[in-house]
Amino acid sequence: MLPHPPPSRHVLVCVNERDPASPLGTGCGARGEALYASLKDLVTSRGAQRDVWITRTHCLGICPRAGATCVTLDASGERRVLSGVERADAQALLLPDPAHEERIATAELLDLLRDLEELQAGKVIDLARRLRPGLTDEDIRNPHDFPELADPDWHYADGVLTGIQSVRSAIAARARRRSAENRER
Ligand code: FES
Repeated sequence: MLPHPPPSRHVLVCVNERDPASPLGTGCGARGEALYASLKDLVTSRGAQRDVWITRTHCLGICPRAGATCVTLDASGERRVLSGVERADAQALLLPDPAHEERIATAELLDLLRDLEELQAGKVIDLARRLRPGLTDEDIRNPHDFPELADPDWHYADGVLTGIQSVRSAIAARARRRSAENRER
Protein backbone atom coordinates (compact mmCIF):
# COMPACT_ATOMS: atom_id res chain seq x y z
CA MET A 1 0.00 0.00 0.00
CA LEU A 2 1.45 3.38 -1.01
CA PRO A 3 0.20 6.82 0.02
CA HIS A 4 -0.75 9.24 -2.73
CA PRO A 5 -0.97 13.02 -2.36
CA PRO A 6 -4.62 14.04 -1.95
CA PRO A 7 -6.21 16.43 -4.45
CA SER A 8 -6.78 20.02 -3.39
CA ARG A 9 -10.49 19.45 -4.08
CA HIS A 10 -12.54 16.32 -4.65
CA VAL A 11 -16.09 16.73 -5.94
CA LEU A 12 -18.52 13.81 -5.63
CA VAL A 13 -21.54 14.10 -7.92
CA CYS A 14 -24.65 11.98 -7.49
CA VAL A 15 -25.79 10.43 -10.78
CA ASN A 16 -28.23 8.00 -9.18
CA GLU A 17 -31.38 7.19 -11.11
CA ARG A 18 -34.55 6.13 -9.35
CA ASP A 19 -37.61 4.39 -10.54
CA PRO A 20 -39.85 7.21 -11.87
CA ALA A 21 -42.59 5.90 -9.53
CA SER A 22 -40.39 6.45 -6.45
CA PRO A 23 -41.83 8.94 -3.92
CA LEU A 24 -38.31 10.39 -3.72
CA GLY A 25 -38.47 11.45 -7.37
CA THR A 26 -36.36 10.31 -10.28
CA GLY A 27 -33.01 10.94 -8.56
CA CYS A 28 -30.17 13.17 -9.72
CA GLY A 29 -29.63 10.88 -12.75
CA ALA A 30 -29.29 12.83 -16.00
CA ARG A 31 -28.89 16.17 -14.21
CA GLY A 32 -26.00 14.72 -12.22
CA GLU A 33 -24.45 13.27 -15.39
CA ALA A 34 -24.67 16.68 -17.11
CA LEU A 35 -23.06 18.37 -14.12
CA TYR A 36 -20.36 15.70 -13.96
CA ALA A 37 -19.57 16.22 -17.68
CA SER A 38 -19.33 20.01 -17.21
CA LEU A 39 -17.02 19.62 -14.24
CA LYS A 40 -14.78 17.15 -16.10
CA ASP A 41 -14.60 19.52 -19.10
CA LEU A 42 -13.63 22.44 -16.88
CA VAL A 43 -10.98 20.46 -15.01
CA THR A 44 -9.55 19.05 -18.25
CA SER A 45 -9.47 22.49 -19.89
CA ARG A 46 -7.41 23.72 -16.92
CA GLY A 47 -5.10 20.69 -17.02
CA ALA A 48 -5.98 20.16 -13.34
CA GLN A 49 -6.92 16.46 -13.43
CA ARG A 50 -4.28 15.49 -10.89
CA ASP A 51 -5.27 18.23 -8.47
CA VAL A 52 -9.07 18.25 -8.76
CA TRP A 53 -10.90 14.95 -8.77
CA ILE A 54 -14.47 14.56 -10.00
CA THR A 55 -16.25 11.31 -9.11
CA ARG A 56 -19.73 9.99 -9.85
CA THR A 57 -21.57 8.46 -6.92
CA HIS A 58 -24.81 6.69 -6.12
CA CYS A 59 -27.45 8.35 -3.94
CA LEU A 60 -26.10 10.75 -1.32
CA GLY A 61 -29.38 10.74 0.58
CA ILE A 62 -30.83 14.14 -0.32
CA CYS A 63 -32.55 13.45 -3.66
CA PRO A 64 -33.35 17.01 -4.81
CA ARG A 65 -36.19 17.57 -7.31
CA ALA A 66 -33.93 19.90 -9.33
CA GLY A 67 -30.21 19.79 -10.01
CA ALA A 68 -28.02 17.21 -8.30
CA THR A 69 -26.42 16.56 -4.93
CA CYS A 70 -22.67 17.12 -4.59
CA VAL A 71 -20.10 16.84 -1.85
CA THR A 72 -16.87 18.82 -2.02
CA LEU A 73 -13.88 17.69 0.04
CA ASP A 74 -10.87 19.97 0.35
CA ALA A 75 -7.30 19.12 1.33
CA SER A 76 -7.84 21.32 4.40
CA GLY A 77 -10.47 18.81 5.60
CA GLU A 78 -13.38 21.11 4.77
CA ARG A 79 -16.47 19.30 3.51
CA ARG A 80 -19.58 20.85 1.96
CA VAL A 81 -22.77 19.04 1.04
CA LEU A 82 -24.75 20.88 -1.65
CA SER A 83 -28.09 20.00 -3.16
CA GLY A 84 -29.90 21.33 -6.23
CA VAL A 85 -26.59 21.94 -7.99
CA GLU A 86 -27.05 22.86 -11.67
CA ARG A 87 -24.60 22.74 -14.58
CA ALA A 88 -24.31 26.53 -14.33
CA ASP A 89 -22.82 26.06 -10.84
CA ALA A 90 -19.91 23.95 -12.12
CA GLN A 91 -17.44 26.83 -12.21
CA ALA A 92 -18.32 27.89 -8.65
CA LEU A 93 -17.83 24.33 -7.38
CA LEU A 94 -14.22 24.43 -8.47
CA LEU A 95 -13.46 27.81 -6.95
CA PRO A 96 -13.00 28.41 -3.27
CA ASP A 97 -16.10 30.04 -1.74
CA PRO A 98 -14.80 33.43 -0.49
CA ALA A 99 -17.54 33.75 2.15
CA HIS A 100 -16.75 30.28 3.44
CA GLU A 101 -13.01 31.00 3.51
CA GLU A 102 -13.69 34.20 5.44
CA ARG A 103 -15.84 32.34 8.00
CA ILE A 104 -13.05 29.82 8.58
CA ALA A 105 -10.42 32.56 8.99
CA THR A 106 -12.68 34.47 11.40
CA ALA A 107 -13.42 31.37 13.48
CA GLU A 108 -9.67 30.66 13.76
CA LEU A 109 -9.01 34.25 14.79
CA LEU A 110 -11.77 34.14 17.43
CA ASP A 111 -10.35 30.88 18.82
CA LEU A 112 -6.92 32.47 19.06
CA LEU A 113 -8.33 35.53 20.82
CA ARG A 114 -10.28 33.32 23.26
CA ASP A 115 -7.04 31.50 24.16
CA LEU A 116 -5.27 34.84 24.67
CA GLU A 117 -8.17 36.09 26.79
CA GLU A 118 -8.06 33.01 29.03
CA LEU A 119 -4.30 33.36 29.45
CA GLN A 120 -4.52 37.06 30.29
CA ALA A 121 -7.51 36.57 32.63
CA GLY A 122 -5.39 34.02 34.54
CA LYS A 123 -2.58 36.56 34.87
CA VAL A 124 -4.98 39.25 36.10
CA ILE A 125 -6.53 37.09 38.84
CA ASP A 126 -3.13 35.68 39.92
CA LEU A 127 -1.69 39.17 40.26
CA ALA A 128 -4.80 40.38 42.14
CA ARG A 129 -4.46 37.48 44.62
CA ARG A 130 -0.82 38.30 45.20
CA LEU A 131 -1.91 41.81 46.13
CA ARG A 132 -4.81 40.59 48.25
CA PRO A 133 -5.24 36.83 48.79
CA GLY A 134 -8.70 35.39 48.35
CA LEU A 135 -10.04 37.84 45.76
CA THR A 136 -12.58 36.32 43.36
CA ASP A 137 -13.31 36.99 39.68
CA GLU A 138 -16.39 38.91 40.82
CA ASP A 139 -14.30 41.02 43.24
CA ILE A 140 -11.88 42.19 40.60
CA ARG A 141 -14.74 43.47 38.47
CA ASN A 142 -15.09 46.14 41.15
CA PRO A 143 -11.43 47.07 41.75
CA HIS A 144 -12.34 50.35 43.47
CA ASP A 145 -13.68 48.32 46.41
CA PHE A 146 -10.16 46.98 47.07
CA PRO A 147 -7.40 49.56 47.73
CA GLU A 148 -4.74 46.88 47.14
CA LEU A 149 -5.72 46.86 43.45
CA ALA A 150 -4.59 50.48 43.04
CA ASP A 151 -1.44 48.98 41.61
CA PRO A 152 -0.04 50.11 38.22
CA ASP A 153 1.09 46.58 37.20
CA TRP A 154 -2.34 45.13 37.97
CA HIS A 155 -4.07 47.94 36.05
CA TYR A 156 -1.77 47.39 33.10
CA ALA A 157 -2.57 43.64 33.04
CA ASP A 158 -6.30 44.36 33.42
CA GLY A 159 -6.12 46.92 30.59
CA VAL A 160 -4.49 44.35 28.29
CA LEU A 161 -7.34 41.94 29.12
CA THR A 162 -9.95 44.58 28.33
CA GLY A 163 -8.22 45.28 25.00
CA ILE A 164 -8.29 41.60 24.02
CA GLN A 165 -11.98 41.33 24.99
CA SER A 166 -12.85 44.45 22.99
CA VAL A 167 -11.12 43.16 19.87
CA ARG A 168 -12.83 39.77 20.23
CA SER A 169 -16.27 41.38 20.63
CA ALA A 170 -15.71 43.65 17.64
CA ILE A 171 -14.63 40.73 15.41
CA ALA A 172 -17.57 38.56 16.57
CA ALA A 173 -20.02 41.41 15.88
CA ARG A 174 -18.52 41.93 12.42
CA ALA A 175 -18.80 38.20 11.67
CA ARG A 176 -22.50 38.24 12.69
CA ARG A 177 -23.11 41.28 10.47
CA ARG A 178 -21.33 39.70 7.48
CA SER A 179 -23.24 36.48 7.97
CA ALA A 180 -26.58 38.36 7.99
CA GLU A 181 -25.55 40.27 4.83
CA ASN A 182 -24.64 37.01 3.08
CA ARG A 183 -28.01 35.46 4.03
CA GLU A 184 -29.83 38.45 2.51
CA ARG A 185 -27.99 38.16 -0.83
S1 FES B 1 -30.57 10.47 -6.00
FE1 FES B 1 -29.07 11.99 -5.83
S2 FES B 1 -28.96 12.33 -3.73
FE2 FES B 1 -30.40 10.74 -3.91
